Amino acid sequence: MTTDPAYRFDHVGLVVKDLRQATSALGALGYDSFTSPVDDLRQQVRIVFASRSEPSSPRLELVEPAGDGSVVRDLLVRGGSTTYHVCYRADDLERAMTHLSDHGFRPLAEPAASPAFEGRPFVFMYHLALGLVELVGSDDRHRGEARRSGQRCPHATRLLRRLAADGQLRAAIEYLLQEREYLPYAEGVISAAAALYREQGRGEDELAEAVLEYTYLYARHQVSFVKTGAYSHTDFARVYEEVYDNEALMLGTYLPGLLLTQAIWPVHYRVQRLFNDVFLAGFDAPPARMVEFGVGHGWTLLEYLRRFPRSEALAVDVSRHSLQFSASVLRANGVDASRVRFVQADVTRYEPEVTADCDAGVMGEILEHVEDPTSALRSFRRLLRPDARAFITTVIDSNAVDHIYQFRSQAEIDAMIVGHAFELERSEIVEPRRLRLGDELGSDPTKYYLAVARAK
Ligand SMILES: C[S@@+](CC[C@H](N)C(=O)[O-])C[C@H]1O[C@@H](n2cnc3c(N)ncnc32)[C@H](O)[C@@H]1O
Repeated sequence: MTTDPAYRFDHVGLVVKDLRQATSALGALGYDSFTSPVDDLRQQVRIVFASRSEPSSPRLELVEPAGDGSVVRDLLVRGGSTTYHVCYRADDLERAMTHLSDHGFRPLAEPAASPAFEGRPFVFMYHLALGLVELVGSDDRHRGEARRSGQRCPHATRLLRRLAADGQLRAAIEYLLQEREYLPYAEGVISAAAALYREQGRGEDELAEAVLEYTYLYARHQVSFVKTGAYSHTDFARVYEEVYDNEALMLGTYLPGLLLTQAIWPVHYRVQRLFNDVFLAGFDAPPARMVEFGVGHGWTLLEYLRRFPRSEALAVDVSRHSLQFSASVLRANGVDASRVRFVQADVTRYEPEVTADCDAGVMGEILEHVEDPTSALRSFRRLLRPDARAFITTVIDSNAVDHIYQFRSQAEIDAMIVGHAFELERSEIVEPRRLRLGDELGSDPTKYYLAVARAK
């Protein structure tokens, strides 16, 4: 017999009829942290992990059938929503399987790559006296296979294949694909956009066009900045008329294009990972209310509302098209948009009815869009309670169709944030850009700035 390979408890698995109803029921039991759903197309299931801040509580895996051939459909038909397996990690999966086989367990199938565990190998084993146990190994052999597999991330695989044919995006996509967690993340963004387009009777071709057009529009303006040293605009009223109030540009290119850059531009991917892994993961208690300035494409808001299912939000944007688009992104992806109060306003002049009632604040890529960033920061800070956490991004030396205010250094932005009664938890220049902007551009001076701050 083989020796005991050390099994580390990982989670209890529940099969559920409806993920949304199940997560809301767990909310009543104090579960306050939920991962974004991951689709396992081979098993035809959709998976969310739930946990509580209390360290002794077990992590739960909620598994919803996603298709007629789903491996869990029979379980539901027989017993309704119920617990059905316990999962352990084992460093050497093959050795663990041999060890458990010696003790009467039988594998239900060959080990395969698990989308819920970044492509690590997993297997279900059955014991007559115990039922189902899942084992997740830690070896890397299946990860490459999972990464290459178009089956588990169909939207991302289709769109990335298409976009990689473009000279400007090819290097960026090849760079991103080297990252282990990238493809499942990209699938989340791209399938969210595809859900909206499907609802509107539009196809994935139009999505690909939107992100290409948005990327080329950005590149043209940045090339011009490198040549002239000046941003395209200085006047907000003109940008409002030409961009934010322009329905065809906003709904056809700007908003869907910018949404997809969250998965396709390396710098936006990095920022979104930090938003999830540092900002959202860093709250001592789940926030009850957040404010987002410049909600734009709505992806950041969607991630936030999924992570904190009992929180409400205030979303402020000067563009009626951004408000409409972001609300539709929420609805098309199963998030109740009535949890959000959408307000059309210029954040530099915004006078909220209630102040100091938010414990989280997000202001991504807004400060460079206004003539006076200090007035935007002032109204943002007024909405936050003392001790609220804020996520703020902007750019240095980076021009676009709607950029107005040119920041020149990280120190300048740090000082502006600190000057509005914030303490910096983290401030950094996010690398890399990895977009090739054409031969006219020697080296791109763009720097992307990110801060996590706490209101004093
Ligand atoms: C570049 S997008 C940012 C989207 C998203 N926050 C992100 O980080 O990707 C800029 C958004 O800010 C909005 N915006 C620009 N100036 C604004 C202002 N003065 N007041 C309110 N919203 C503004 C635009 O309508 C647009 O939706």
